[in-house]
Amino acid sequence: MSELPAFRWSAVLLILLGLVTLQSGTHAASFPATRGRGGAVAAGERAATEAGLEILQAGGNAVDAAVATALALAVVQPDAGNLGGGGFAVVKVGKELASLDFRETAPTAARRDMYLDSDGRPDDAASREGPLAAGVPGTPTGLYVLHQRFGSIPWREVVDPARRLADDGFVVSRRLQLSVADSRKRLERYPETAAVWLPGGEPPQAGSRMRLPALAATLESYAEHGPTALTTGAAAEAIERVSRKYGGILRASDITDYRPVWRQPLTFEAFGWRFASMDLPASGGIIVAQALALLESLDWKAHPRFGAARAHLLAEVLRRSFADRYLLGDPTTTLADSKTLLDPDWLASRRSTIRDQRATPSADVARSPQPTLQESSDTTHLSVADAYGNVVALTTTLNDAYGCGLLVPELGFLLNNQMDDFATAPGHPNMYGLVQGEANAVGPGKRMLSSMAPILGLRGSASVVLGARGGGRIPTAVLQVLLNLLVDDDGLQTAIDRPRLHHQWLPDRLRAEADALSPETRKKLEAWGHQIEVWDRTAMVHAVRRLHDGQYEAAADPRGPGVAGVVDPLP
Ligand code: GLY
Repeated sequence: MSELPAFRWSAVLLILLGLVTLQSGTHAASFPATRGRGGAVAAGERAATEAGLEILQAGGNAVDAAVATALALAVVQPDAGNLGGGGFAVVKVGKELASLDFRETAPTAARRDMYLDSDGRPDDAASREGPLAAGVPGTPTGLYVLHQRFGSIPWREVVDPARRLADDGFVVSRRLQLSVADSRKRLERYPETAAVWLPGGEPPQAGSRMRLPALAATLESYAEHGPTALTTGAAAEAIERVSRKYGGILRASDITDYRPVWRQPLTFEAFGWRFASMDLPASGGIIVAQALALLESLDWKAHPRFGAARAHLLAEVLRRSFADRYLLGDPTTTLADSKTLLDPDWLASRRSTIRDQRATPSADVARSPQPTLQESSDTTHLSVADAYGNVVALTTTLNDAYGCGLLVPELGFLLNNQMDDFATAPGHPNMYGLVQGEANAVGPGKRMLSSMAPILGLRGSASVVLGARGGGRIPTAVLQVLLNLLVDDDGLQTAIDRPRLHHQWLPDRLRAEADALSPETRKKLEAWGHQIEVWDRTAMVHAVRRLHDGQYEAAADPRGPGVAGVVDPLP
């Protein structure tokens, strides 16, 4: 259980930093999102949002700011921000829409049965702890090619805020101290990691200054030479060396040969908006697209807000979308894709099985072993808009907190444990309790299926940019924030603050954050056959949007320590 207890900021902090306004995540639904005319950033840590805003103020565009924010997260949010993981970005620059897949790949030596014990049973520890759990990192090359194609200021300037944070040090937050303490077991297993993140055997103290000299040197050579500084020669060999030392199969050639992929963005329309998200190997966009299409056709708008009918429809739609997810995997081996799952005939057949006032047991939607629920997630999402209307939704992850727990000592960053996002044995749940199929079996060079859902909503000159952290809860959170915003006209902060529901097909439960359902609504839903569980661990959404009047808003999720900020330039 790596996710932190919610760390709620007690007040809105307005900091004038030049012309930048920042707002911490807040639990009060009534605070408006911050507004400005020069662009906006929302991300999981204050220093990261500040890095993005600094770049916007310096004349960088949304892509420059997004990359700077992601790199700063690799320093100040080591549980999720990364150079040793991967992610996805969806961007709109000028009129061009693009999506970049920098998801990790399975190493060349990976085999479909590599996580099975001698009795053929899945060994969860092997796919979650240590370097055998690590996929080939995609972030170093991914962020670079994103910047190469769409960035507007020199690469060095984009890397610099992160390099400074690592070199000069940053003030350790209470959140970081707690997070390290929470993952202590994982981090102390490897002396290479403990030397950095458990100095003197203890988590870094909140309020102390943390310097990361090895990471600073890595960022300096990344700024100077680009990704080859991290993916070739001595750097790639350092990754192979530490991986081998603890039984991993990552090889220097895997690191060097990794390539991100520009993919056709997943585009669709619903509720009068046009959307662009990430297609496979991310499943989150497909789930959101299916759910929006089904809810629109089920006349979602007409049902009373917060009532049982809406909760029922949401659960039924998500149950089916997550069941369809079972068929998904790497684009080369998937058994279904966005085309088949968004086909009008398929949607109609899914819709035809949804009954009024009666839950469909998940076992009747499709059959699969019942998973035990395990929740964990260390993904981080950032949303950026610039003054020119360019937007970026970028989600990146090590998978679990601090990835596989192993740090590459020469480079100063942690390796992911993304291999657990494969179906280590088809039908066996991963760490999010997601049951996945044959299409997502382990295979050399394959990309493991993700639930990430970076998404852009576009209508005329207005846009909304969001995504989330939270494993399988990502698409359900993104979906509900979109519905709050685009159907029910909530303000941005309110749309994020509202309590949420979650259903992922298996286990057959409707999870509800406290206050998401009134006692009467809950009673009705139970009478209709829903098994309800109160759940306080939902995803964290960070979002920005451009309003029709050209103003920008930014809002961070109150469930975590995210910070949102805007730039308000002088006319
Ligand atoms: N590792 C979480 C995800 O990609 O869904």
